[in-house]
Amino acid sequence: MNRVDFGDYPLPSLRPLELSAEGLRVLDQRRLPGEEAWLLLRTPEEVAGAIKEMAVRGAPAIGLAAAYGIFLAVREAEEGDWLSAAERAAEMLLATRPTAANLRWAVERMYACARSLQGLSREEAAEALREKALLLHREDEEMNRRLSRLGADLLPPRARVLTHCNAGALATGGYGTALGILRAAREQGKEVEVFVGETRPWLQGARLTAWELSREGFPVTVITDAAAGILLQRRMVDLVLVGADRIAASGDVVNKVGTYPLAVLASRHGLPFYVAAPWSTVDTELLSGGEASIEERGKEELGYSLPPGVSAWNPVFDLTPAELVTAIITDRGVAFPPFATSLRFLTRAGERGRDTFLASASTGGEGRGGT
Ligand code: MRU
Repeated sequence: MNRVDFGDYPLPSLRPLELSAEGLRVLDQRRLPGEEAWLLLRTPEEVAGAIKEMAVRGAPAIGLAAAYGIFLAVREAEEGDWLSAAERAAEMLLATRPTAANLRWAVERMYACARSLQGLSREEAAEALREKALLLHREDEEMNRRLSRLGADLLPPRARVLTHCNAGALATGGYGTALGILRAAREQGKEVEVFVGETRPWLQGARLTAWELSREGFPVTVITDAAAGILLQRRMVDLVLVGADRIAASGDVVNKVGTYPLAVLASRHGLPFYVAAPWSTVDTELLSGGEASIEERGKEELGYSLPPGVSAWNPVFDLTPAELVTAIITDRGVAFPPFATSLRFLTRAGERGRDTFLASASTGGEGRGGT
């Protein structure tokens, strides 16, 4: 088994992807929580299918699956054709789902690595690309752990948190982003109670987040998405914490559909609205969230039959304007409004290779209702 070496970090309790000698093993998230079934994907086509069909999902996890898919393409390629095979696989994998920035982040790194290997044999290139994919996997978990430590500092000692969808180990290379922060807060000795919206129509909240957290002993309560209003009105939570699929340079956040209403509610009730994501989710070329491509899926995913002649619209992400976000927690630091300034600061600092720090905007605003 080609296990990822996580260095000093303890192995995560849960990882949705694992490279084996036969291919990429993915935990089939469509079958959780009823069954822990693993799929073995041997070709880039099978990886693309698993991403499209949601067997593997979550922005960082689909990026990593695609990275392994490019390795698989080169492994099975003809001797003189491996770079073209990598390019074809990169294009096919990029076309699987349009919204998550992490997919492009991973595919571009793999393809750049492949190009740098020109002149090597297929076997040598495949070995180098296998190493690169494992490195990206490890990097993802490291980013999650770093942002989680930073985010945990923002939580009160007894935190009642509303989250949405699944931004946990299942959605990433391991540990998770929003759920990683909850893990890190508990490691800091804080008490954490979690409410999660069921997340229609795929139920990532009810099926995945509830499963992932409850198996580690977190108190978890599922609510219908529509119950978020009364939950906040009754002040049953202290803050809202979500992941992200793409973050624009402006601080606009694209995340699972249903996130935007939560941000509006948090603003209405004066509660912090935090977004957690590795830097691979930040798209500095996207000036505002309105330019992001929002995936729309079929009406069959609603899970029930509509009356004849009735259509359905099923966008699976939405856009939360930066003005509703209290802070964006990344592995490079915590960005506060105005995000155009603080994210630019983190971008430049990252380019200079600086480590973790706090990017508080010049206005000093630590965000509405920060804890
Ligand atoms: O459609 P999905 O299940 O891939 O969408 C996932 C989400 O929206 C997550 O909340 C997001 O990717 C954050 S993942 C750390």
